[in-house]
Amino acid sequence: MKDTIILGIESSCDETAASLVKNGQDILANIVNSQISIHQQFGGVVPEVASRKHIENIAVVVDAAFKESGLSYSDIDAVAVTNRPGLIGALLVGLSFAKSFAYALNKPLIAVNHLHGHIYANSLAHKNIEFPAICLVVSGGHTSLLYMKNIGEYEIIGETRDDAAGEAFDKVARFMGLGYPGGPEVQKAAEQGQLGKVKLPRVFLDKNDFEFSFSGLKTATMNEWKKMERRGEQNVHDMAAEFQAALVEVLVEKTMRAAARYKVKTVLIAGGVAANQALRNLMQEKAGENNLQLFYPPLALCTDNAAMIAGTAYHSYTNGDFAPLNINAYPGLFVPVKN
Ligand code: KG4
Ligand code: ZN
Repeated sequence: MKDTIILGIESSCDETAASLVKNGQDILANIVNSQISIHQQFGGVVPEVASRKHIENIAVVVDAAFKESGLSYSDIDAVAVTNRPGLIGALLVGLSFAKSFAYALNKPLIAVNHLHGHIYANSLAHKNIEFPAICLVVSGGHTSLLYMKNIGEYEIIGETRDDAAGEAFDKVARFMGLGYPGGPEVQKAAEQGQLGKVKLPRVFLDKNDFEFSFSGLKTATMNEWKKMERRGEQNVHDMAAEFQAALVEVLVEKTMRAAARYKVKTVLIAGGVAANQALRNLMQEKAGENNLQLFYPPLALCTDNAAMIAGTAYHSYTNGDFAPLNINAYPGLFVPVKN
């Protein structure tokens, strides 16, 4: 069978990315231009700045992907792009570029849900995943537990009621004076901290469902942080260690309960927070105890990239699921139904 090569484009937040992927599996090029150093000075992503940087970088990043792969424009079979969820101005840059590119080359356009991309990063990295599976999606904007019958076929069985896990990392890092993005900074600080020096709640662990809540944990962390300050014994390492443990323990325990309830043998983790070493370690330990096979993407495919977008699109391509050139971008997970 002829190979299918898809150009993936991703611009939903603060990474401008382009990738070329063959047959939904082989990464021929994967270019990520991160704006982190620009947003760091503001302590978080400034949407307007992100859009402007995407427009400067998008063509450069796409050309770099072609150069890295040694392919020419005419070698591709389709153009895939993230059109939801994300910052609307940022999404529109990638989407407009992808439309123009597809139109100019007379190739089909494929619209990809960013979270499907994060999940698919597992399939890019591992060929032997057996479904059904439970997938924990933990990113800067979302936290959900999914029951997956197969790639692209899933049911959401639980979600966060408020903040996403990555958002909690970012907010806690911010008030403790750590940098942006908060996740890697908290992880680094936690490595030098001692557990149990402060005590934080394991929120919703007592509830027999698959819902999460991280806003309360954030507030509790903030209160303990202020108490430590009043006592004159503020210790960022101990605080980071306890916060990370409180969050990770709930994620892992609920994932294990879901695996037992749905009687699956496979567990996946996806999204930026899947890069967290404490989460990977505890999930690995518990998966082992429960005879579950655990998969997570390599670090470079956990955070935002376009290989996961091009990979996800392969399955749309084989199904002939193409997007019209008037397709829009959406900040939320679901496309609103038109009246
Ligand atoms: O998936 P992602 O790159 O973007 C979204 O789709 O939201 O996730 C970004 C989030 C940020 O909140 C960041 O702090 C978090 O992932 N993150 C981490 C780590 N690396 C990135 N959180 C915890 N530990 C990490 N090592
Ligand atoms: Zn993401």
